[in-house]
Amino acid sequence: MKTITLGLVGVGRIGVMHATNIAALNDVLAAQDVRVELKLTDVAADHARTVAAGLGAEFFPSVEELLAAGIDGLLIATGTATHPELIKAGVDVGIPVFCEKPVGVNVEESLPILEYIREKGGTVQIGHQRRFDAGYLEAKRAYDAGELGWIHSLRAITGDMTPPPVEFLATSGGLFRDCSVHDFDILRWLTGREIVEVYSRGSNNGDPAIGAVGDVDTALAVITFDDGTVGTVAATRYNGAGHDVRLEIQGSKGSVMVGLDGQSAFRSAEAGIAFPAGTPHRTFAERFGSAYVAELQAFVELIQGTRTNPCTPEDAVAASKVADAAQESLLTGAPVRVAL
Ligand SMILES: NC(=O)c1ccc[n+]([C@@H]2O[C@H](COP(=O)([O-])OP(=O)(O)OC[C@H]3O[C@@H](n4cnc5c(N)ncnc54)[C@H](O)[C@@H]3O)[C@@H](O)[C@H]2O)c1
Repeated sequence: MKTITLGLVGVGRIGVMHATNIAALNDVLAAQDVRVELKLTDVAADHARTVAAGLGAEFFPSVEELLAAGIDGLLIATGTATHPELIKAGVDVGIPVFCEKPVGVNVEESLPILEYIREKGGTVQIGHQRRFDAGYLEAKRAYDAGELGWIHSLRAITGDMTPPPVEFLATSGGLFRDCSVHDFDILRWLTGREIVEVYSRGSNNGDPAIGAVGDVDTALAVITFDDGTVGTVAATRYNGAGHDVRLEIQGSKGSVMVGLDGQSAFRSAEAGIAFPAGTPHRTFAERFGSAYVAELQAFVELIQGTRTNPCTPEDAVAASKVADAAQESLLTGAPVRVAL
């Protein structure tokens, strides 16, 4: 059996999830006679040692030592501001890199690293896991097959049940860049179209500390695609009913909704309607559990050269350009053209 060694930097909220997912990934990879082994590091060394011990992974005290340990691929799950430097470090040792979204806190921070990756011929996959979610894949299939006709409306929603720590929000780039960037990415991926204009509004009726770090807890962006189609992208940190991620696509022939299932985080206001009857997802890890495993499987296949990159840094920065425009619109109160 072939062993692929992944080196993980950062075992916070999503890093621990990726590390934990290695077991499920190995179940899938067993059919290909491949096994993943994990080595990890984090500046919070005690915490990382505990995580490593719990998962049977090997702990390294620094990124440099991890990179020198003969890993086949680097997984970056640190805060957004550290992504460019860590991507560079992985590219410099000549191994494929998987980096959590986004590439950088904004487009300006991201463009130099895109150039660096191109110059060095690096391979970098960015973590937009929705591209691996069964619901989004089916919506794309229906759209591509023409089953929906021409699209007149797209409505995307992302609702966290509770806000992440304010320390995280302070360096996240803001709600559009941190959260809605997933919706901007999936809308581009699904439609194959560019979003050319954004007009956004936000509010802060939750913890005043979120406003104090320059962010909003809830926002809505009206988006216009390059063919004139309009849509909305809504996000909140306070969706008490559960982690709610949906996309409604309405066309001249048919309509589909991603995320409408027995665990959807709402109840019907109509009499006698029991659906959805299940317990809503509480976190992104629950909502996209199998998608996260599938994106890591794709990364292992990318390392082995058996598949093409499913989400390039250029793809991710294109979504970040929309997020930057949404943030600018939020601040100026005016519609903003996306700098394509
Ligand atoms: N794809 C998704 O659905 C999704 C969901 C959540 C977060 N994210 C992204 O993942 C990234 C991490 O988010 P999080 O919520 O896990 O953050 P977090 O703050 O919970 O965890 C970050 C971890 O990285 C460690 N760290 C920071 N700098 C480091 C460095 N230079 N070297 C080693 N370790 C370092 C921290 O100690 C911490 O443990 C963010 O960029 C975020 O946008 C993606």
